[in-house]
Amino acid sequence: MYNARPVLAGIAIVVILFSAPFWAGVLGRDYKDTGIVPPKDEKNCIEDTGLMRSRHMQLLNEWRDEALRGENRSYTAADGRTWAVSLQNTCLSCHANYREFCERCHEASSVYPYCWTCHVLPVENRK
Ligand code: HEC
Ligand code: HEC
Ligand code: HEC
Repeated sequence: MYNARPVLAGIAIVVILFSAPFWAGVLGRDYKDTGIVPPKDEKNCIEDTGLMRSRHMQLLNEWRDEALRGENRSYTAADGRTWAVSLQNTCLSCHANYREFCERCHEASSVYPYCWTCHVLPVENRK
């Protein structure tokens, strides 16, 4: 007779180990895994970090539409702070290190925004 418990535990461990990449994908990747470098002198983004992570593309689309169609160039965040609606002067003034922030995560996620044929990256990022 053998004891089934260690066998079942062993099987469970193997299943968990092999499905780890799957769970990591489902639960969302921790940005630290991608090696991105957030701004050092600021604590917070415009909106909650989790929200920014999952919705910054929608926010940028809204900003563009607001600026160009609504001629509204001021954005009030959930915490009441107001920001100039500007990809370059707002987002990229804090996230000046485009390559090590935006781009590193985009490459990890295979996303290649086409914005920079028109919008200007901070000087240190142009090559
Ligand atoms: C074909 C050129 C072009 C491309 C490509 C482009 N834009 Fe723009 N975008 C413009 C122009 C022109 C304006 C208007 C500038 C102004 O009036 O301030 C603008 C304005 C904006 C604005 C609002 C004002 C500002 O200064 O930020 C946002 C936000 C924006 N674009 C986001 C994006 C994003 C995000 C992408 C990539 C997904 C993108 N754009 C790609 C040309 C472009
Ligand atoms: C006032 C400075 C500041 C501005 C302006 C700003 N950010 Fe941020 N952003 C931060 C900081 C600081 C963090 C990291 C917050 C944290 O670790 O909790 C961050 C986090 C993020 C994240 C999430 C990274 C992660 O942890 O997954 C994204 C995406 C992002 N910002 C995009 C943007 C975009 C797009 C804009 C413009 C619409 C913008 N940010 C404007 C400071 C800023
Ligand atoms: C933590 C990871 C992460 C960071 C940091 C990040 N992005 Fe993204 N970004 C993504 C992902 C993932 C997508 C694709 C989402 C989708 O397709 O739904 C995306 C999509 C976008 C898009 C839309 C692209 C398209 O072709 O539709 C724009 C524009 C964009 N990001 C701009 C930025 C800018 C600007 C920054 C830096 C200020 C930034 N992102 C930082 C993960 C990130």
